[in-house]
Amino acid sequence: MKEAQPQPIYLRDYRPPAFLVDHTELEFDLYEEGAQVVSRLKLRRNPDSDNARASLVLDGVELELRSIMIDGVEVDAERYSVEGEHLEVRDVPDEFELETQVWIKPQENTCLEGLYKSSTMFCTQCEAEGFRRITYYIDRPDVMSLFRTTIRADQSLYPVLLSNGNEVEAGVLEDGRHFAVWEDPHRKPCYLFALVAGDLHCQKDVFVTSSGREVELRMYVEHRNANKCDHGLISLKKSMAWDEDVYGREYDLDVFMIVAVDDFNMGAMENKGLNIFNSSCVLAKPETTTDNGYQRIEAIVAHEYFHNWSGNRVTCRDWFQLSLKEGFTVFRDAQFSADMGSDTVKRIEDVTVLRTAQFAEDAGPMSHPVRPASFIEISNFYTLTVYEKGAEVVRMIHTLLGAEKFRQGSDLYFSRFDGQAVTTDDFVACMEEVSGIDLTQFKRWYEQAGTPVIRVTDFYDPDTREYRLTFRQSCPATPQQTEKLPFHIPFAIGLLDASGQDIALPNGATTQVLHLTEPEQSLVFQNIEAQPVPSLLRGFSAPVRLEYNWSLEQLKFLMSHDSDGFNRWDAGQKLAIVVMQNMISDGSRDVPEILIEAYRKVINDTETDQALIAKMLSLPTEQYLIELADEADVQLIHQVREITQEKLGGALREELKACFQRNVQSSEAYAVDALSIAKRTLRNTALQMLLKTGDEEALQWALDQFQAASNMTDQIGALAALVHSPFENDRAQALSSFYDQWQSDNQVVEQWFSLQSGNPKTGHLQAIKALMQHAAFDIRNPNKTRSVIGVFANQNLTCFHAEDGSGYEFLADQVIQLDALNPQIASRLVTPLTRWRKYSEVRQGQMKLALQRIKSGGKLSPDLFEVVSKSLV
Ligand code: ARG
Ligand code: ZN
Repeated sequence: MKEAQPQPIYLRDYRPPAFLVDHTELEFDLYEEGAQVVSRLKLRRNPDSDNARASLVLDGVELELRSIMIDGVEVDAERYSVEGEHLEVRDVPDEFELETQVWIKPQENTCLEGLYKSSTMFCTQCEAEGFRRITYYIDRPDVMSLFRTTIRADQSLYPVLLSNGNEVEAGVLEDGRHFAVWEDPHRKPCYLFALVAGDLHCQKDVFVTSSGREVELRMYVEHRNANKCDHGLISLKKSMAWDEDVYGREYDLDVFMIVAVDDFNMGAMENKGLNIFNSSCVLAKPETTTDNGYQRIEAIVAHEYFHNWSGNRVTCRDWFQLSLKEGFTVFRDAQFSADMGSDTVKRIEDVTVLRTAQFAEDAGPMSHPVRPASFIEISNFYTLTVYEKGAEVVRMIHTLLGAEKFRQGSDLYFSRFDGQAVTTDDFVACMEEVSGIDLTQFKRWYEQAGTPVIRVTDFYDPDTREYRLTFRQSCPATPQQTEKLPFHIPFAIGLLDASGQDIALPNGATTQVLHLTEPEQSLVFQNIEAQPVPSLLRGFSAPVRLEYNWSLEQLKFLMSHDSDGFNRWDAGQKLAIVVMQNMISDGSRDVPEILIEAYRKVINDTETDQALIAKMLSLPTEQYLIELADEADVQLIHQVREITQEKLGGALREELKACFQRNVQSSEAYAVDALSIAKRTLRNTALQMLLKTGDEEALQWALDQFQAASNMTDQIGALAALVHSPFENDRAQALSSFYDQWQSDNQVVEQWFSLQSGNPKTGHLQAIKALMQHAAFDIRNPNKTRSVIGVFANQNLTCFHAEDGSGYEFLADQVIQLDALNPQIASRLVTPLTRWRKYSEVRQGQMKLALQRIKSGGKLSPDLFEVVSKSLV
């Protein structure tokens, strides 16, 4: 008989839980062979349940049940049963204490969900459904409970024992063991539970809240990382202060802990009072961490901290509501990062991710709304759509309401739902209530998948001096949603006159937000002296594809004159895109003068924010060019982009050299302020462009910089320039001396892997296979797997899409092997294969074949099954 396939669950089937857990008492005994977990749950029937006589059903995966008692009495064998992933107990009273004892094996846990070992420490990851791998429980976010946790372990191996809340007791036991008891005064769903036991260094700090309470901050890391804690703690204090200032949110416990672990599926996790981080997302020092790394850490520390309110104090009713906490929290961390640095640059970075990767997801087989209606495996829905598009949706609400009303709405949301598990509808209702704005149509952003397209046309009539803009919106069909209703789209515009000045608009300002709600809408501007240049979708005010028939001259004009920084950058991107698309379609290899002149102007511009200038100097990526194509010819796109870079580098050699030298910094200590970062970025961008052309002087600069660098940004900047250059010997030498220098540092080795696997010069398939044989590679470590296999398949596109299909076969092999170890990582890694619709028929065939082979290869995890089967429909 064929084994049953995993079945989807539906939002429309939501029912309140039959039982509630008022109190959860856990006792962990950690040993080298495994762990014993005793749980005592104070249960009672939920008055809001629609089944007053239901049996008690608990979730549990890979648990060995050793005893089960109700109110202190052993439960008869015929009264309970364990089937699949459930423990059912029949004929239970309305209120009782259930005690279970289970045995688990954290040492053998390679999926990194539940309780597992990372290096020498025990740690947990429970979101979304990992708690059921620790003990039998009602593992759903609308069951909130008070937790008291006892941990017992060997004192010399695990001197540090941590869980959520406050430590209320600790002491020594027999046989060299010791214990600690933690109590969390806040009710929480079990996905926010955490436990850590290890031999860890602790760096302490303090934060005084606005109401004068002292909070102890602690960062726990392995001893070898003791000198990488400063930046995490600084970022934490900034986040705490910002959330008080901007959202009026204070921290609510006496201690806040961060732990860094090397083996982690995601970036980090917001467990109450005990955040657990992927080492690569929190550990930093100048010698090993790039500017990008510093900024990413600041953003992730903030993200997890902000969850304390948007996620923990107010949580999700069910996992379909995931964007309630993730979209809102990403929006909050984006506002924070904008405030800490340049808001324009932050916006550019976010929109780049959205347009390259989220739009591709929206157009792919796993396309889903911000609030999905069904899923097979919730882990597959921690997506760019739920996170980044979800944040865009919150951002649009912010635009529609204005900052003040938005704050009133968030205050209402936090006070009304504090301590509750709620829905995205509850969130939107608060925003409507404070503003009086009807968001009924707007809510389609939560329900309809796919990226809306807005086609803009315009007409200027010199006789009437009227300027008419017409907007047509549509949205492509997505799986299970063929018909789409019009969205409510806040569309920000400005008009520029011939001198590049903003024209005053009817609202009295220079930017106006239009409300597009119909399939087609027009707007007429009166008294316009001459044909204006429209600046459309300023600040990327909505996550849509914009179509307008720009001329190259208009784009060049906007590039230097638009008062909206985002649109200045975007005009440059669009100009480069049109140029490269023309080269692709007409076969020419000449870079038109207009692009060279536009870039010359950018490089020589020392007035504009240098961080923005650095962004403007980067050509759109191959990934984005692929995303924009109907049928992408990867080799051709790569070739044209390379040529464009080389020609720009050659034509602008003198300007680039001046830019490099202008931005060499004196030997002052490394600083992560915006200007220093911008200078390093500019210098390294210039260096890379010059080296691509084979410039000997630049080669010497790169070698010197590589040797002398006192920070990783400069060192790896020089190394990257060498890797992308034609200087083969220097490249090889630099790569190997870099490894010798940094082999003992995991975070640097990950960067070293990525640099090689992401580039066709160093990352052809044979080289990738060799990297996987390298002593530093470990397929069970997600960071290493991502930095070699993930980077190869997502960034090294000419090699991954090699004509003979070898890249696809390789990825399929790795995915199959990984699925047995870590389904979450396997199902994420397979993504590039699911995007087959973008490529030529031959490649489509090869990619589908690879997917077929995965599908028919044996028992798949639900994670991988869902992605692969949906991709083959
Ligand atoms: N809530 C975490 C965060 O975004 C991510 C947890 C991801 N867990 C998972 N199973 N995919 O901050
Ligand atoms: Zn999050």
